[in-house]
Amino acid sequence: MKYLMTINGESVGENLEQIDIINPGTNEVVGSVPNGGEAEAERAIEAAHNAFEGWADLTAYDRASYLKKLNDLLIENKEALGRVMTLEMGKPITQSMGEVMYGASFLEWYAEEGKRIYGQTVPAHLPNKRMQVWKKPVGVVAAVTPWNFPLAMLTRKMGPALAAGCTVIMKPSSESPLTAAMFMDLIEEAGFPKGVVNLVTGSSSKIVGKIMEDERVRKLTFTGSTEVGKLLIRQSADNVKLLSLELGGHAPLIVLDDADLEVAVQGAIDSKFRNTGQTCVCANRIYVQAGIYEAFVERFSEKVKELNVGDALDESVDIGPLINQDGLEKVMRHVEDAVGKGAKVVSGGHRKSETGLYYEPTVIRDVNKSMVIMHEETFGPIAPVQKVETVEEAIKLANSTEYGLAAYVFTENVARGMKLIEKLDFGIVGWNDGAPSAAQVPFGGMKESGIGREGGAEGIEAFVESQYVSIGVK
Ligand code: SIN
Repeated sequence: MKYLMTINGESVGENLEQIDIINPGTNEVVGSVPNGGEAEAERAIEAAHNAFEGWADLTAYDRASYLKKLNDLLIENKEALGRVMTLEMGKPITQSMGEVMYGASFLEWYAEEGKRIYGQTVPAHLPNKRMQVWKKPVGVVAAVTPWNFPLAMLTRKMGPALAAGCTVIMKPSSESPLTAAMFMDLIEEAGFPKGVVNLVTGSSSKIVGKIMEDERVRKLTFTGSTEVGKLLIRQSADNVKLLSLELGGHAPLIVLDDADLEVAVQGAIDSKFRNTGQTCVCANRIYVQAGIYEAFVERFSEKVKELNVGDALDESVDIGPLINQDGLEKVMRHVEDAVGKGAKVVSGGHRKSETGLYYEPTVIRDVNKSMVIMHEETFGPIAPVQKVETVEEAIKLANSTEYGLAAYVFTENVARGMKLIEKLDFGIVGWNDGAPSAAQVPFGGMKESGIGREGGAEGIEAFVESQYVSIGVK
């Protein structure tokens, strides 16, 4: 199906060159979007700029009613959206439908949270003054999103932005823009005023380049690689654009001797193999204390062997294809490097089929920090397990990375768990929990994993500025 961009309520890009979107499981073209560039970015900026005042002047209650309508439409269209998502990027269908619900939850939550942007009254130091802090929407926001969560990363950004009174330009990844285009149709159906939300597809360098240089866009919110994030930080300097960045990760998962084995194994599966290992918060390195190491490796690999790899449209499938050839090659390189340096494959370890980009869910043991997989983000279904002797060793290894997004800890001992987590430099920690993400809590990283938080109360603060007003009274 041929999808178009939407700018100021109009379909745009009919006559532009089209980008074909390829199903990574079958190599078939499943749709196309226009290859937009600077001209379309300029039109979208103009539209969002013109729509801003009217949208910001609405009450939070009016804005909430649009967001709730959109939330309802997402839920009604869960199957259709999920199917397109699976076709364009290979996420197993039950997980795609799960992502639609996850995506909708940001709209529902921020529809309400927009009503609680309170501001402050501050006691004055003089009798003839009254001091207040007002909250204003930052203005036009550009939301640049990755291919691995084609819907939820949009709603996690635009939900709070719209609730706060900002207008939005959405720029999805060119690997998976079809879900965003379908989502845009639902935004139109929900009746948002023209220009409040705009969708631009095509060349990231041209579109984002234009956005970065235009001072009318006050904020960029981006999810993607640390490398691109650093470039955006440099580009934002010229007009002091506000940034929220959710960047790369390399999550450690620590299992202590006193962990509940079944809980730890299930947590490792949930964290490692969600979206075929292609999330920023996937466990990338597993550190297991010596006393439970053999039992963990055995039970974990038994369960991993049960994971079903195949056609992502089949509801019984757990592991779909990887997004593209580069993704597959990286996974193969990580396994090859580890095995070459002495690691042993316990389960999996091979490409699954020659047609689609499938790789078997894989457990490798006896890994160590010299192996590439222990410091480079894998983005695939490979679980390397390293033995550690002490809690201190686990902490040291866990923190020995430039990333600080997510970490996981499995222990039944509350005091050990608390002391360990206090020492971890990560923005999100799952304690006996392999799936901590939710709309109502902050998501984001320390160190080179990013700037700011999405989700929860912090997620809406990112779209408002404080304006201090000093009032002279007689
Ligand atoms: C991501 O991979 O960036 C998002 C994962 C999540 O929201 O849990």
